[in-house]
Amino acid sequence: MKELSKKIRNAPKSKIRELFDLAAGRSDVISLGIGQPDFSTPQPAIEGNINALNNKVTYYAPTKGVPELLQQLENKLKTVNNIETTWKDNIILTNGGSQALSLAFASIFNPGDEIVISSPNFISYFYLSAFFDLKIIEIERKNDFRPDIEKIKNSITEKTKAVLINSPNNPTGYSLDINELQEVVEIVKNNDLYLISDEVYENYLYDNSKHTSPASLKDMFERTITLNAMSKLYSATGFRLGYVAANKEIIDTMEKYHQYTVAGTNHAAQYGFLEALKMDTSFFNDILKSFDERRLLAYNRLIEMGFEVVKPKGAFYIMPKIINFKLTGAEFSKRVMKDQAVAIVPGNVFGSYSEYMLRMSYATKMDKLEEAMDRIEKFTKTI
Ligand SMILES: Cc1ncc(COP(=O)(O)O)c(C=O)c1O
Repeated sequence: MKELSKKIRNAPKSKIRELFDLAAGRSDVISLGIGQPDFSTPQPAIEGNINALNNKVTYYAPTKGVPELLQQLENKLKTVNNIETTWKDNIILTNGGSQALSLAFASIFNPGDEIVISSPNFISYFYLSAFFDLKIIEIERKNDFRPDIEKIKNSITEKTKAVLINSPNNPTGYSLDINELQEVVEIVKNNDLYLISDEVYENYLYDNSKHTSPASLKDMFERTITLNAMSKLYSATGFRLGYVAANKEIIDTMEKYHQYTVAGTNHAAQYGFLEALKMDTSFFNDILKSFDERRLLAYNRLIEMGFEVVKPKGAFYIMPKIINFKLTGAEFSKRVMKDQAVAIVPGNVFGSYSEYMLRMSYATKMDKLEEAMDRIEKFTKTI
């Protein structure tokens, strides 16, 4: 048989999936591997979806999304993110944040272009770059996970097309402060680049950290691709709904790709998203409080155990460094699963500079998280 796609076959199978494979068939496993909140999807989202199905909304939706939802998103972008859009021109609905990312890549890049990201960073950026024949320029984060602005600046070449930021960040939990964001924005403007801003964790912020959308800053809307999703705020990863806000030319380009690859998103689910967006986000206050308690528990316990840990400012991940234990993240992850049935993602999944790190998600109930920490502690005593 003739050879299948090199690009796609060369991408390794997700290490996170491998971890789940190791856990398969074991009922004693506690997973700190999952990137999905553990609270229930708010009822209005579910009812909006069911009602739409009962009303026989079972046919193709408009490619960019149903107007009511796009209008609601226009309103959300204005009131929450301070981004001025026109729903007809500047917003497209996607299949989750994941497809928002692939549309961003498909619409602005040509083969050979360079994309700059801080590393460690979210896994998909690496493989999307490979699928779209880009050169990925990984800039190692500083010790406390802040971006290395000087190195980013020095990495820009004629071929650089975009900088990608994800704040709050998966996997580090880092959240950019306004000064750092301004510095990134200056680099983008001074070099005539695009900025891809992945904001799927915008609501998960602690210790008074604030989120600023770069598209709200002066002269930035035209060159920023803002992407977000229903997944994390509404604990609705299975709805597979997300969106992009960008200038009209970019959205028109995305619409073409969208048309010929997925022909739109789930029609009935869009009404679920619509109802979710109409909710007062105060429903999230108690949830955030609970995530904050888990964050502090994970942080304190890991410090006690002798890990080097940066206190996360956002999202629901913590990324301890395991230099003291003289194991790579991959070895640690495999052994702690085998010995103590705790699923933890090895740091090397998230780039070239995190081999001696682990990523843990604390989106799990407090008692489970405590038990997981007890087990990890037991394991560390055996190393
Ligand atoms: C940083 C980041 N961006 C995008 C996504 C994809 O989001 P979705 O599940 O909505 O496709 C994730 C999912 O974990 C993520 O962590």
